[in-house]
Amino acid sequence: MTTAQTEAAQPADLAVVILAAGKGTRMKSELPKVLHPIAGRSLIGHVLATAEAMNPAYTVAVVRHERDRVVEEIERVSPGVIIVDQDEVPGTGRAVEQAVAALPEDFTGSVVVLSGDVPLIDAETLNRLVADHVADTLQMTILSADFANPTGLGRIIRNMNGDVTGIVEEKDASDAEKAITEINGGIYVFARKPLQDALATIGTDNAQGEKYLTDAAGVILRSGGRVDAFTTRDTWLIHGINDRSQLSAAARELYARIAKRHQLAGVTILNPENTYIDVDVDIAADATVLPGSYLQGKTVVAPNATVGPDTTLVDCVVGKGASIRRSEAHEAAFGAGADVGPFSYIRPGTSLGEKGKIGAFVEAKNAQIGDGSKVPHLSYVGDITVGDGANIGAGTIVANYDGVNKHRSVVEDGARVGSKNVLVSPVTVGAGAYTGAGAVVRKDVPAGALALSVSPQRNLEGWVEQNRPDSASAKAAQKENQA
Ligand code: UD1
Ligand code: CA
Repeated sequence: MTTAQTEAAQPADLAVVILAAGKGTRMKSELPKVLHPIAGRSLIGHVLATAEAMNPAYTVAVVRHERDRVVEEIERVSPGVIIVDQDEVPGTGRAVEQAVAALPEDFTGSVVVLSGDVPLIDAETLNRLVADHVADTLQMTILSADFANPTGLGRIIRNMNGDVTGIVEEKDASDAEKAITEINGGIYVFARKPLQDALATIGTDNAQGEKYLTDAAGVILRSGGRVDAFTTRDTWLIHGINDRSQLSAAARELYARIAKRHQLAGVTILNPENTYIDVDVDIAADATVLPGSYLQGKTVVAPNATVGPDTTLVDCVVGKGASIRRSEAHEAAFGAGADVGPFSYIRPGTSLGEKGKIGAFVEAKNAQIGDGSKVPHLSYVGDITVGDGANIGAGTIVANYDGVNKHRSVVEDGARVGSKNVLVSPVTVGAGAYTGAGAVVRKDVPAGALALSVSPQRNLEGWVEQNRPDSASAKAAQKENQA
């Protein structure tokens, strides 16, 4: 690629076409191929994000197979994309022909063609390709690559001077052409008018009976236009996904690239090979992500926080210096210095204040827990507000569901809920109040009171010797009583 000029065409001169009408048979899936996710986005979601980053005047998506589901995803990710339904004429050429026809008559700029199943292409590479296309006054620019095993892909044909003379599909190639290792990446830049004129003349007389976009190369050249191919060394950029093995290969590569981006920005990631960070996750410098962790959705991690090992966070906010170990959390916020896990399950709507603690084997749901408050062991806290500096004793359960409705409880600042309590919601434990071990709290506890609800203990002397004579317990009791 010539790099003398690296400025993109003015966005007003740019249109992006995304091809997504194909069937994706080899995925063997009920889900349309381009809707399969990797690293937190659908395949077409990645391509749409790349298109958006180029800031084009128009983006057109061509759909046909499962069009309603594909269109729903496109409109969710990128409202404003022009949707074009491909008719029954098959082939990439027909798809682009219909896409170009949907552009305004007076648009004469560059048309970038992408595939919905090639998710790793990036805007930087495309902007350079467009800049070269414009600078070299080309009518068609192809992104190519050198593949040791080019089987199945279109080959770039060049003459003795090295000039591109056309593209031949595998199924139409001679043995000599099949030996060519420069392949068509399926990513192009065209000048609108010559593209439109070329497509109008292309037929379907080939091995697959399809209208090939690749035939535009020969047509444009024969009408005096200029065509060139630029080779990328980064073959992942044009990695197309046709089956699940290629899907996982792309996912691995994308996760590795995301991890590297964070590492270079100052995040410690001990082992990128088993750390899975989605594209939209935001991690500050000096945070640490330990192995076996999945950071998903719009999760945000602040400096000096530690996530993992073996932790899943979905749409969470982790404050400065907080630590989340061996836990799973969804739509939750953890304050600075908070300590979570191991083995906590945090459900949506939960927030934990500064230096708060949610400890081992605790499930929290829609619980707002204040600064310095602790739920250290073996508890369920659902639909509850806990003030600052409160403590919830081990084994406490908030009975928030009466079988019909959910109710909220409140534990105010500085309160101490005893071990193995049941808070029968709705109930309030007032500021600074205590509750005894094993209490079933059904009535509000006033500030500063001690609530006891268990019946007084009775000891029946000699019960074991009378009722379990000769048992090991009875013998032990006898020995102790005789001593
Ligand atoms: C295409 C190229 C081939 C190139 C390869 C790179 C053609 C004729 N061949 O082959 O030279 O090496 O990509 O991956 O273009 N699509 C439609 N409508 C259709 C057919 C396809 O929208 O009628 C879409 C598909 O959904 C897909 C893209 O176009 O996103 C490419 O189609 P595909 O059938 O995968 O083309 P290949 O045979 O791989
Ligand atoms: Ca393909």
